[in-house]
Amino acid sequence: MAKDLIISTMFRFHNFYCIIAVLSAFSFISIFYWCHFSSNCYSMNFIMMQKQKEVIDLLTFPYAWNLLSFSADPPPQILKIALFVKKWPHRSRAGGLERHALTLHLALAKRGHELHIFTASPPNSSSPSYPFANLVFHLSKPTSGGYLEQAVVWNQFQTQNMTGRPFDVVHTESVGLLHTRAKNVSNLAVTWHGIAYETIHSDIIQELLRTPETQRASMMTERTAKVVEEVKFFPRYSHHVATSDHAGDVLKRIYMIPEERVHIILNGVDEEIFRPEPSQGNEFKRKLGISKSRSLVLGMAGRLVKDKGHPLIFEALKQVFLENKEFQQSVTVLVAGDGPWGARYKDLGAHILVLGPLEQAQLAKFYNAIDIFVNPTLRAQGLDHTLLEAMLTGKPIMATRVASITGSVIVGPEMGYTFSPSVESLKTTLYRVWNDGRAVLEKKGEAARQRGMQLFTATKMAAAYERLFLCISKEEYCRHQKSS
Ligand SMILES: *[C@@H]1O[C@H](CO)[C@@H](O)[C@H](O)[C@H]1NC(C)=O
Ligand SMILES: *[C@@H]1O[C@H](CO)[C@@H](O)[C@H](O)[C@H]1NC(C)=O
Ligand SMILES: *[C@@H]1O[C@H](CO)[C@@H](O)[C@H](O)[C@H]1NC(C)=O
Repeated sequence: MAKDLIISTMFRFHNFYCIIAVLSAFSFISIFYWCHFSSNCYSMNFIMMQKQKEVIDLLTFPYAWNLLSFSADPPPQILKIALFVKKWPHRSRAGGLERHALTLHLALAKRGHELHIFTASPPNSSSPSYPFANLVFHLSKPTSGGYLEQAVVWNQFQTQNMTGRPFDVVHTESVGLLHTRAKNVSNLAVTWHGIAYETIHSDIIQELLRTPETQRASMMTERTAKVVEEVKFFPRYSHHVATSDHAGDVLKRIYMIPEERVHIILNGVDEEIFRPEPSQGNEFKRKLGISKSRSLVLGMAGRLVKDKGHPLIFEALKQVFLENKEFQQSVTVLVAGDGPWGARYKDLGAHILVLGPLEQAQLAKFYNAIDIFVNPTLRAQGLDHTLLEAMLTGKPIMATRVASITGSVIVGPEMGYTFSPSVESLKTTLYRVWNDGRAVLEKKGEAARQRGMQLFTATKMAAAYERLFLCISKEEYCRHQKSS
């Protein structure tokens, strides 16, 4: 029974790893029979080997750690953890890297670990405060470029490392701690939220979408040089965390970092905040005066800037509205966030509502109110949190075909739609969504929620990092017994 359950759960992941795992389970059984009934059994060792495969060496585990389940029991050891992050977010309004830093390290503090956050003092000097005695901030004045003053934070770190007990593990969000300081630290992990190689795809998209009257960005050749530069300095960091399967592959294949130093831990978002609550969604719609005859509510969230694909979706919606009155009369678009494109959406009529930036609780209601979440981003780097929030809320998603999204998030049509970053492709997808209608979208939303709960909860992410940090601090934690 338990085994059937595991196998059926594995199939739901729809990925290569599961197929391999299931195949090897079957071949184990068939070889066992073959050995049992044949005198020609070449080696019992093979069977032993297969059995041992149930114990995974985490450091060389090639897939996302989010696929594994780690115990929710209190950690076997309380770790002293240092974090270097350029900026600590002010409340919930923060971009990807800072959101990640906040969600992850608060979760680790809740698990009882001792956290020391080395970060820049906030501009109005009110230092962050949380109800954890085991979460300590070490603030410093940033450089004029907004980076951490390396000599200063390094001194703060050294002082802490000599007080009480030394750090078990050091974590840096991106280049919070520069490689010049990180290079000699073996118990260190860096999390990359976008690497230069991924950005090349964004450059290509931007160039293709460029209108003749705007100037060509000079970045095209510089970018390759940037990648080469990264390939040279990245190896100085001991361990690397990739936030998408694609970035993990690039770090191993193109950046040539040994596989036992590259670990994939997909981003996670707070599953207590982002969850299905249909009544909240209805209430949200009612307050906005969205009538029941509107059969489809599309939602977008985030900074309303060019990079996030707003010019593209603006043009696509404009054309569809002109072409198809029925579409226009049945669709409402909700836009959460602010930025230069906020005002322009008003030109598209009364059924595009720009809500401004929303606090997390409001944002959760927003996701509940929509039928599908649309993310036309042109940024290929990192792994967008908004998609994960929509999925945990049980909404299908439609997003640009960039490798992090197609490789880790929308891995098949069962949870949503993907499109190329062109007005044509976006229009085709909008029509497809509209034709599919609510019932199909609800079904996809359920699949999205299921995948979200398996992979993208803050709890999953924190458990994976905790285990990585334990493993970095002590080798015995690097072996993982798969439950069976
Ligand atoms: C600190 O400054 C930021 C940006 O100016 C502002 O949004 C925030 O409300 C301020 N925080 C406090 C506690 O005053
Ligand atoms: C922290 O202190 C320990 C114990 O003295 C030492 O082994 C380690 O190298 C120190 N870490 C760094 C990064 O200096
Ligand atoms: C730090 O690393 C450099 C090489 O990158 C090496 O020459 C130096 O001895 C190391 N220092 C320590 C204290 O380990």
